[in-house]
Amino acid sequence: MRKPVAAPEPEPVAPVSVYVSNPNVHEQTVTRVTHHTDSLFSFRITRPQSFRFRSGEFAMIGLPNAERPVFRAYSVASPAWDDELEFYSIKVPDGPLTEHLQKIAEGDTVLLRPKATGTLTLDSLLPGKRLFLFSTGTGFAPFASIIRDPETYEKFEQVIVTHTCRTAAELAYGHEVVAGTREDPIVGELADESRLVHFTSLTREPHAVTGRITDLMEAGTFPKAVGVEAIDPEHDRAMICGSSRMLADTKDLCIRFGLEEGSNARPNTFVVERAFVDAK
Ligand code: A2P
Repeated sequence: MRKPVAAPEPEPVAPVSVYVSNPNVHEQTVTRVTHHTDSLFSFRITRPQSFRFRSGEFAMIGLPNAERPVFRAYSVASPAWDDELEFYSIKVPDGPLTEHLQKIAEGDTVLLRPKATGTLTLDSLLPGKRLFLFSTGTGFAPFASIIRDPETYEKFEQVIVTHTCRTAAELAYGHEVVAGTREDPIVGELADESRLVHFTSLTREPHAVTGRITDLMEAGTFPKAVGVEAIDPEHDRAMICGSSRMLADTKDLCIRFGLEEGSNARPNTFVVERAFVDAK
């Protein structure tokens, strides 16, 4: 008689960690992904009806790829009236979220926490006439929201958005948003060239204007290029969004020009927020 052969031991199975739907997190569908450069992309997702935010605020975004997904703060780049939500991101090679997020495609699911928050809101500023929006890199994202909001033009006579990047390719998203804003049926008439000024400069390639925004402010190149004599704390208001060092330096300049930092609770003449999407 043949000896019965023992069935092989099953291979130990690694515990599978899958995302289980959570009633406190919205599961939204990706409607569009645009890759602007090797390291920059924007994407749009459906918006839950209950998701409220003020233009300039950020949301918490994640992917359903783990039991406990990693969430990161992303400025909403679309205006508060839009049916969808748009985000603009850098692709961080080892970033726990952007490493995966940069591979999303139309139809995929993105997780969204229900609350938006942030200081780059019109409510954080005292009434004024001219609004400066200073950005570098992906720091343009919250301003893509603010310049597309009609309320901005109700509150300010002129909006000057500045975008400084290393290379021309990195300015593409900003150019697209500004061109789209001018043609938009809701806000286009308000955002003509006299009321919405788009100033760009580059630091690592030739361009009409080269140099960091801080250096251009100090040298007077920036005010001259946009037809402004000087920053006047009585009527001028500012928002700043970029890397931490850019924030610190631009903030120092604003203070030197006589502006004072505000918040939602205590509106004043300028506000600051980090470009969260560059965080790993
Ligand atoms: P630079 O090329 O001289 O560093 P980054 O991708 O590093 O966030 O930079 C985006 C843009 O912001 C670049 O043009 C960069 O200029 C500029 N930048 C970096 N640090 C500062 C700063 N402290 N103040 C103003 N602009 C800055």
